Amino acid sequence: MFVHWGIYAIPAWHEQILWRRNMSPFDYKHYAKQFNPVKFNPHEWIDLMQEAGMEYICFTTKHHDGFCMWDTKQTEYNIMNSAYGKDILKLLTDACHERGIKVGLYYSCVDWDHPYYPNLGRSHELSRPKPGDDPDINRYYNEYVVKQIEELCTNYGPISYFFWDLNIAEYKDPSVNDLIRKLQPGIMINDRGPGEGDYKTPERSVPPGRRFELPTEACQSVGKHSWGYKQDEDYYSVAYLINSIDKIMAMGGNYLLNVGPDASGVIPEEAQRIVRSIGRWYKKVREAFDDAVPASDMITDNNVMLTRKNHTLYAHVNIPVISSSIVLTPIDVLPNKAVLLNTGQELETRVDITPNLYKEKPILRIRGIPADDLTGEVPVIKLEFDEAIEKYVPPEKDA
Ligand code: GLC
Repeated sequence: MFVHWGIYAIPAWHEQILWRRNMSPFDYKHYAKQFNPVKFNPHEWIDLMQEAGMEYICFTTKHHDGFCMWDTKQTEYNIMNSAYGKDILKLLTDACHERGIKVGLYYSCVDWDHPYYPNLGRSHELSRPKPGDDPDINRYYNEYVVKQIEELCTNYGPISYFFWDLNIAEYKDPSVNDLIRKLQPGIMINDRGPGEGDYKTPERSVPPGRRFELPTEACQSVGKHSWGYKQDEDYYSVAYLINSIDKIMAMGGNYLLNVGPDASGVIPEEAQRIVRSIGRWYKKVREAFDDAVPASDMITDNNVMLTRKNHTLYAHVNIPVISSSIVLTPIDVLPNKAVLLNTGQELETRVDITPNLYKEKPILRIRGIPADDLTGEVPVIKLEFDEAIEKYVPPEKDA
């Protein structure tokens, strides 16, 4: 679960309201004093995560606004000086460590508050430095970011991964990631920071292809407009999200689904409903992902994704489900058993010739998918074979 949470939950419009609505940074700062999420209870967030089968959290320690959600000694602009006055990151990470949830930290390189960050009107930057600023990217990294990294990677227990956001493309400094790795051995670092990353982070999209060549974590918010809390958010449908979760995970990626808690600390009802609904599907089909490898390149049908675990193949049928059968060209072996994980029912399988396919070539066909009853869920069919079916045999071209 990705969590975008900060003082921008008070205006409740978008986490970048300061920049997107051209607010005065001085007016915006009032939210920092007001922020008082009295209903914040990290265990409630974790309950929701566990109900949905989510295993790790990625939390916005500092977003572009520059406000820090932990007890940092590097700026006054932090949670200890809010009405709340408690180290939110500490409360959250303690609860996560206690309950076996892995912790990822999101950290924005862009900073609309710090005097050294060069706000020069590039994308996601204020149009000009504020009065009194002293823009200097090297000082910003060496005297500010690095010290904050030290705090974040020292005071909050094991950190599993570090999610940089929006580094200035020209600024490269591998020593920053080296420092993170030194302080948190075994950590993974994403590809949006000042140094080489370990994994890719496509956003709000399913990249083309059948499997990821590099480690990938795709992120997506439950709301269409914002990552942070938006009072009048328009939410994605559960079906849309399940379809993209299934594709990303069947391609071998991780999926980071975002929610934006409100200013009191509560994850909005509608976001909770969406996460729970996805979780109900995920728990029925998750054996098709756990320890399984992407195998969609074994078949030619773009509407079906495959994953594989030893002798078992899992066919994931993209939604909307087009018909009550799928044909797994060019596989021509009959499985011992085909079970629709969504319902537990057994499905009929045949290896036969269908009128529209490769001439005279029998192909595995799976029948009786209750397409009209499963609206909103990706059907996942478990196919158990006697032996490993792993070779890709290119289909013969029609004469
Ligand atoms: C985009 C948004 C940013 C958000 C990030 C999450 O970059 O602009 O606000 O934090 O996506 O990946």
